[in-house]
Amino acid sequence: MKVLLRLLRYTRPHIGWAAVAVVGMVGVALATVFLMYLVVPLFDNMLGAGAAQQILGKNVAGEGSGAGKKPLSPVVRGLQRQFERARAALASHLPSEGWALAALVLLTVFVKNALTYFGHYAFFRTGLATVKDLRDHLVDALLRQSPEYFQQQPTAVLMSRVTNDVEQITAALSDRFGDLFQDSFTVVGLLVYAFSLNFRFALAALVVAPLLIAPVWHFSRRLRKRSHQSQQRLGEMNTVLDEVFKGHKVVQAFGMERFEAARFRQATRRHFTANLKARKVQALNAPVMEVLGVGGAMALIGYASHLISRGEMTLGLFTSFLFALYCMYNPIKRLNKLNLALQMAIAAGERVFAVLDAPVAITDRPNARPFGQLRQGIRFSNVHFAYEPEKPVLRGFDLEIPAGKVVALVGPSGAGKSTVAQLLPRFWDVQQGCITADGVDIRDFTLASWRGAIGLVTQETVLFNTTIRANIAYGQEEVDEERLRACAQAAFAEEFILEFPDGYDTVVGEAGIKLSGGQRQRLAVARALYKNPPILILDEATSALDAEAEAVVQKALENLMRGRTTLVIAHRLATVRNADWIAVMDEGRVVEQGTHRQLLARSGLYAYLAELQGLTE
Ligand SMILES: Nc1ncnc2c1ncn2[C@@H]1O[C@H](COP(=O)(O)OP(=O)(O)OP(=O)(O)O)[C@@H](O)[C@H]1O
Ligand SMILES: [Mg+2]
Repeated sequence: MKVLLRLLRYTRPHIGWAAVAVVGMVGVALATVFLMYLVVPLFDNMLGAGAAQQILGKNVAGEGSGAGKKPLSPVVRGLQRQFERARAALASHLPSEGWALAALVLLTVFVKNALTYFGHYAFFRTGLATVKDLRDHLVDALLRQSPEYFQQQPTAVLMSRVTNDVEQITAALSDRFGDLFQDSFTVVGLLVYAFSLNFRFALAALVVAPLLIAPVWHFSRRLRKRSHQSQQRLGEMNTVLDEVFKGHKVVQAFGMERFEAARFRQATRRHFTANLKARKVQALNAPVMEVLGVGGAMALIGYASHLISRGEMTLGLFTSFLFALYCMYNPIKRLNKLNLALQMAIAAGERVFAVLDAPVAITDRPNARPFGQLRQGIRFSNVHFAYEPEKPVLRGFDLEIPAGKVVALVGPSGAGKSTVAQLLPRFWDVQQGCITADGVDIRDFTLASWRGAIGLVTQETVLFNTTIRANIAYGQEEVDEERLRACAQAAFAEEFILEFPDGYDTVVGEAGIKLSGGQRQRLAVARALYKNPPILILDEATSALDAEAEAVVQKALENLMRGRTTLVIAHRLATVRNADWIAVMDEGRVVEQGTHRQLLARSGLYAYLAELQGLTE
């Protein structure tokens, strides 16, 4: 229920359309009732003019009316009087000619259907707009989530939340709720109408109707159950067959033919019994329905003719009654189905709200301040970090990156280099120790300002399915053409960009599929240049490239690093030998550091790795 209310709260901005929908649907219900009402004079006119007016007039007089004979509760009687008066007043305005009545029926049908259209349109509009808002809201929430969340929730699951689950809510909110409102209005309208026609008769009909509908439900439930059983028995039979055929050699070798045949006979007997029971229900259905149906109808007709003979009812009224009952059947059937749709929507809503309510692990601290400029440098002090408990990745990692210098991080695979690169922009937060910028814990800066100061180029370049221009100037609404071209040139990208017929307006395809790996990498460099961040992280930015492409991208990267505080991670030591400082990492901490020459001279891990790569000086 709470879920439903919360879903309904999303309709608030669309309350205008919701109101139109309700008005339309109430209109439809009223028109339906009016149509039923028109049946009375229509039929009575056919039989003899004035019959309806006669009975209506009699009722209004109060003398000898059915309501007067046996005492009904005064409230009911009062209400009935009101209705009778209203009907009589209406009747006096109705034309008496048959053709005019028929025309009025047509007009009412037209109005009713026009209202149906507007009511449904408004309802769908409300529902769909609500669901759109919900979906947008959901994605807003997801985009704020930390990588940890995305790692725990498979992409497919998240996609399903945004697409399937929301779609199920649409089905309930927009389609089923439309039916719910329309049907309830109609049923209530028809019920009120039926009771206003003749209270006792309506009561009698209401008692009889469930007697007719209940067996339908009962039979269909029984039939479903029986068919299910019969299916199961069929399955058992198949299992026996499967075993016997596949294992026929074993059966024969052991002389078990008769035993297996008996087993099969047992299975067929059970299937026969179950099947027969299902057919019995099926065979019983139609006769019982017909007997009950005709019996119920006859009882009603008997009662009606009794009332008619006493002048308390006309044939027109009776027909109108039957129509009203008939018109209630479908809405009631649909209302019965509503429950299922609602349950599904509630379940989907719960899943969606679980996503909406998931706490965001990495957010601004209450008094976070914007990051200004980096003057001294960045320092990792005794940083501990684990993605999963009990599996430490960083264990007391220390490193200093002086402002404006290039510091390289090298070491064996799995040492934790990329993890260091992820901690710097706070994709994850350290679990012990701290990372400071000019002595201030980076968690004291606002996320937006801190991340805004960092450029990240990794091995996997993420490009969006839009133009090269928009990919380079990612996130900027106003593109500075000159700067764009300067960045593309510095990234050695302009050359290939201009080879495309559309130049900077070339759409790169999903994830940049139309570009080569090296081209994608150079676009990523151009993007970082355009952002112009004071701090730069390069994580294996060239490792996916062949030697030639790597040389070009390496030059592009050198342009990018100039004047920035840079952390560069690479397997190939040749690409980092010119760094100002090199830290060698192993098992989550720095094991040695210095310049390329100093490290070679130490004959440690660095010298060993360098030798493996044929780098001797
Ligand atoms: N998102 C993650 N969730 C869980 N464990 C992770 C995650 N990313 C990395 N790890 C684990 O953390 C350890 C360090 O990984 P990391 O990517 O930092 O190593 P690396 O030094 O960059 O290695 P490589 O040189 O191969 O890129 C590895 O054991 C890895 O399995
Ligand atoms: Mg890595």
